[in-house]
Amino acid sequence: MPKHFLTILDIPGDEARQVLLRAKEMKDDKVRTDLLAGKTLLLIFEKASTRTRVSFEVGVRQLGGDPVFIASRDSQLGRSEPLKDTARVLSRYADGLIVRTFGQEKLQTLVEYGGIPVVNALTDEYHPCQIMADMLTMFERTPDLENRKVAWVGDGNNMAHSFINGAVTFGYELALACPQGYEPDAAILDKAVTLGAKVTLTRDPAEAVSGAHYVNTDVWASMGQEEEQKKREAAFAGFEVDDDLMAKGADDAKFMHCLPAHRGEEVSESVFESPASIVWDQAENRLHMQKAILEWIYK
Ligand code: CP
Ligand code: NVA
Repeated sequence: MPKHFLTILDIPGDEARQVLLRAKEMKDDKVRTDLLAGKTLLLIFEKASTRTRVSFEVGVRQLGGDPVFIASRDSQLGRSEPLKDTARVLSRYADGLIVRTFGQEKLQTLVEYGGIPVVNALTDEYHPCQIMADMLTMFERTPDLENRKVAWVGDGNNMAHSFINGAVTFGYELALACPQGYEPDAAILDKAVTLGAKVTLTRDPAEAVSGAHYVNTDVWASMGQEEEQKKREAAFAGFEVDDDLMAKGADDAKFMHCLPAHRGEEVSESVFESPASIVWDQAENRLHMQKAILEWIYK
């Protein structure tokens, strides 16, 4: 049976720690392997990307494989060829699908009809590769993730959902502050709590950030929600991560953002460019973590 990586919970907890350690080793030792020699991995992207696309293309090459990028608008997917047909065709050419799309159910269709590993490169519901890289970024500073408080300030979106799942696997305390109507999916939150995650939800950013070691935010309108931008700017008033809010965190609290960022909206210019900001390490760690995830799938 092929392994898939659709959410963080696809990696059993004990193995997730190993993936984290391996990603650190990949980084420190500049690891290159031939694990994927003779293998072609297709990147199917229905949304824009800089980091995820390039880190996967480079990462696949550093593991000896061949990445092939397909933008949906240039393929028959963009002309409504059914995904289940596309899956059956592509699986005859390639050894894996790395997919950025809208609904998570599309990945399930690819799993069902493709018969080759599927990796979630972002959906409306989750962004697990990003969060695994963020775990590495926190782990490098504080290996005892289970003793750390992480704040999420902003939209209860795909990133928030993956941070919720991350709290199950890595044991940190997660405090989310979201405006009314923009909370995370209740089923995802409830499941995480049932699985033992320490997660709280408030409408007060100061409460969530109080004592936090890591303060995370993300854009207020995600890809596919561009037409809601103005409405969301109004709803998210008071949710900008600025110096005053950062000051409520723990001593030496770090600011995190998956990027791309909108300065003056979800984060102030001064926080984004401050020494507390670790966003470039997060971006770099995408590469090392992609390689560790691919190794987990293919080894
Ligand atoms: N953080 C992230 O996924 O960036 P891209 O949209 O550039 O891939
Ligand atoms: N929540 C954002 C993340 C981008 C990496 C989006 O889905 O657009």
